[in-house]
Amino acid sequence: MTGLFISFEGIDGAGKSTHIDHLADAFRAAGREVCLTREPGGTPLAEQLRELVLHRAMDSLTEALLIFAGRRDHLQQVIEPALARGAVVLCDRFTDASFAYQGGGRGFDLAVLATLESWVQRTEAAGLRQPDLTVWFDLPPTVAAARLAGARAPDRFESQPEAFFTRVAAGYAVRATEAPARFARIDAAVDRDAVARQIAGVFADRGWLPAEEGA
Ligand code: TYD
Repeated sequence: MTGLFISFEGIDGAGKSTHIDHLADAFRAAGREVCLTREPGGTPLAEQLRELVLHRAMDSLTEALLIFAGRRDHLQQVIEPALARGAVVLCDRFTDASFAYQGGGRGFDLAVLATLESWVQRTEAAGLRQPDLTVWFDLPPTVAAARLAGARAPDRFESQPEAFFTRVAAGYAVRATEAPARFARIDAAVDRDAVARQIAGVFADRGWLPAEEGA
């Protein structure tokens, strides 16, 4: 079996988590090995970098370098070996988040991000490794903010004003336009069941999972 690399993206409050867990169950039920992982993080080293990135003050270049350093470790230690075994890698955020948050949100240089992407994602197996599919949970920042309100102590990104998330959302939209075949846009402003039906449709259309009853 060939491995599948699937990333999940969207602004904070888009509601990715339950859907990722559900997909993991569906792939396991279909007999696939599932590697459930996340960024920033996914290895002991990258999880330590995540703590720093989410909670320590730093300038934008330092932030981008730490995120991509963690990504390199994650790719080498976890993602590439899993894909080589034929597993389905479900990754909660990947490089599109760097373009959306660091590039869009923080206004960091997109050309530097593209350079880091080309260094970090160069692998023997794939040339430039990219997800086979990116499930993009798209919803207006005002709806996301209402969902997040009072949820828990916010990190360095969650504490940003709504205008930041408007720029992040625009960053995702640009990435989606640049790689339309890779992106599946999900309207995440509707209720959870309606979101789940859209996602089930995306995976059934590609022949990666059986069509869900009632979907
Ligand atoms: P998130 O998936 O939202 O974690 P949690 O659900 O536990 O809050 O990711 C943490 C934050 O990291 C999120 O606000 C987006 C940010 N982030 C970046 O700024 N750049 C990146 O490249 C990645 C992967 C995440």
